[in-house]
Amino acid sequence: MCGIVGYVGQKSVASVLLVGLEKLEYRGYDSAGIALVNSNELTVTKAKGRIAHLERALRLKNINGTIGIGHTRWATHGEPSQTNAHPHVNTDGTIAVVHNGIIENYLSLMEELIGKGYVFASETDTEVIPHLVDMYLKEVSSVQEAFRKSIARLEGKYAIAMVTEKEPEKIFFVRNGSPLILAEATDVNGEQELFLASDAPAFIPLAKKVYYLKNGEWGYLNHGLHLFNDKDVRIEPDLQDLKIDVGQVLLGEFEHYMLKEIHEQPDIVQKILTERITEDNKIRFDELELKPEFLAGVGRFIIQASGTSLNAGRIAKLYFENFANVTTDADYSSEFRYRNPVAGGDTVVIGISQSGETADTLAGIYEARSKFLKVLSFVNNVNSTIARESDGIIDLFAGPEIGVASTKAYIAEVLNLLLFSIYLAEIRFMMDESEKIEILNQLKKLPDQMRKVLTHTAKIHELAEKLKEKTSVLFLGRTYNFATALEGALKLKEISYIHAEGYAAGEFKHGPIALISEDVPVIVVAPKGEMRTKMISNLQEVKARKGQVIAVVSENDSELAGLADKVLEIPETPEFISSLLTILPLQLLSYHTALKRGCDVDKPRNLAKSVTVE
Ligand code: G6P
Repeated sequence: MCGIVGYVGQKSVASVLLVGLEKLEYRGYDSAGIALVNSNELTVTKAKGRIAHLERALRLKNINGTIGIGHTRWATHGEPSQTNAHPHVNTDGTIAVVHNGIIENYLSLMEELIGKGYVFASETDTEVIPHLVDMYLKEVSSVQEAFRKSIARLEGKYAIAMVTEKEPEKIFFVRNGSPLILAEATDVNGEQELFLASDAPAFIPLAKKVYYLKNGEWGYLNHGLHLFNDKDVRIEPDLQDLKIDVGQVLLGEFEHYMLKEIHEQPDIVQKILTERITEDNKIRFDELELKPEFLAGVGRFIIQASGTSLNAGRIAKLYFENFANVTTDADYSSEFRYRNPVAGGDTVVIGISQSGETADTLAGIYEARSKFLKVLSFVNNVNSTIARESDGIIDLFAGPEIGVASTKAYIAEVLNLLLFSIYLAEIRFMMDESEKIEILNQLKKLPDQMRKVLTHTAKIHELAEKLKEKTSVLFLGRTYNFATALEGALKLKEISYIHAEGYAAGEFKHGPIALISEDVPVIVVAPKGEMRTKMISNLQEVKARKGQVIAVVSENDSELAGLADKVLEIPETPEFISSLLTILPLQLLSYHTALKRGCDVDKPRNLAKSVTVE
């Protein structure tokens, strides 16, 4: 959701900013803009729609600069339009600001500024910032002071970057709640280059050292990084190596990030198994700061997450209860944060988040902390806000996920949660060594089993061809594969815009069955295991009403293959592991259906990769 980039260096500033913005496209956006400063003159260029439109507008102007800032906007206040796109400027166009997040008190600030004669051009909350700086510049002598005074007036969550004609060699910045990263590099001539961005992929392949700003930190870039904490004390940024390599954010042989990420899953599972399981079959979470003695005494877990991460959480609830025998709830973060849960002191709240920045999940964590509950988070970005606000973290090890529809992060979430539940079971004396080793041996087969599933593309193409004409699809599953039904439906609706719903198959009779007709295919997730016979009954109910059934089944299940119209096979594995396989053909099916419908798979309409506002 919204992306910020900034650059000070010798390269063509417009090009560096455009490339950076393209790398942030995955966050989701509907307009983009750039402010360039050249010879004390500020030029702002904005365009509705894709970055290609902005590039065209910039080419027509034929301008460049020595420093600049850029932005991709995902509309919150005001429709997607050129006027509402960032950067926003003061009345005489000498101060340009880009902003992520929300300024909660913008209406009262606006009123104050209008009272002083300021005129607003856009419908955004952001526009108060350049006018505020303008107002304070009439009282103080430096831009630094005016910027500091302005940000002190802002309430809400924000990451901001600003350039001005008055001090044209500086990019000012502040972080409060929305992520912002600084980076440093040396160009081929040995000259220093400085960057800022809301996410690290924007720097690749230029920068190698990064600094993740903390809340309240602010400063400016010119010759060096000038950083202050929230008490205005100068601090030295402790730069870290950027741990993402170019290959992880380039498409390589794949047409889309989503397809690339689907195919990365076997290797990610392999990596997680290697990192988490020692040679003598111990499960380890080196980064987890919560002690085993503490975890052994937890009386209840409340998992709270959003979207795909909650679907992983729903499976984890079963793992925690079945293996570790501990009461566990799984709830939408957006509900949890407001529902005032009754929770004793032995409750641990678990956040699951690929981005580590989802506003509702973060709010759920703050809610837990306000009740003095410990928080454990499963995150793919260990430098994220959610990671920082948690008492313990578990790294998902999925690598950067660029496709908006989450695939590899989901698999990494489910697997890490499964391993954590086994770890819990062990420290709580709920699982003996032989049972554990049996499970681990099954898990070690997963990478090859996943590779096998991912090669079955002919059938997927054939099915996608049929599905692309449909307006509605239902997904049914039970227990571990109820989450697969939810996640399969979520994938399909996210990227193909076909209406899709996942149901717990037992609920089918209580309403959804009324939807069955020849035009509404039903995807039944029925691998071998305890739930298989129950799923056969559901399948029969669909067939009896002339519904078309696509079944996800275990290999060589000829009985089910004979009942369904089409089957997608997965290798045989225990039911609790099957959800790591059953989702794969559904991811591929969504991908190919969306492609056949001409949808922009990696940048689906209206969606943002990281939802940083409520
Ligand atoms: C957005 C994304 C989803 C994602 C959800 C939660 O809605 O489009 O793909 O599952 O946020 O994101 P998180 O980063 O917290 O896992």
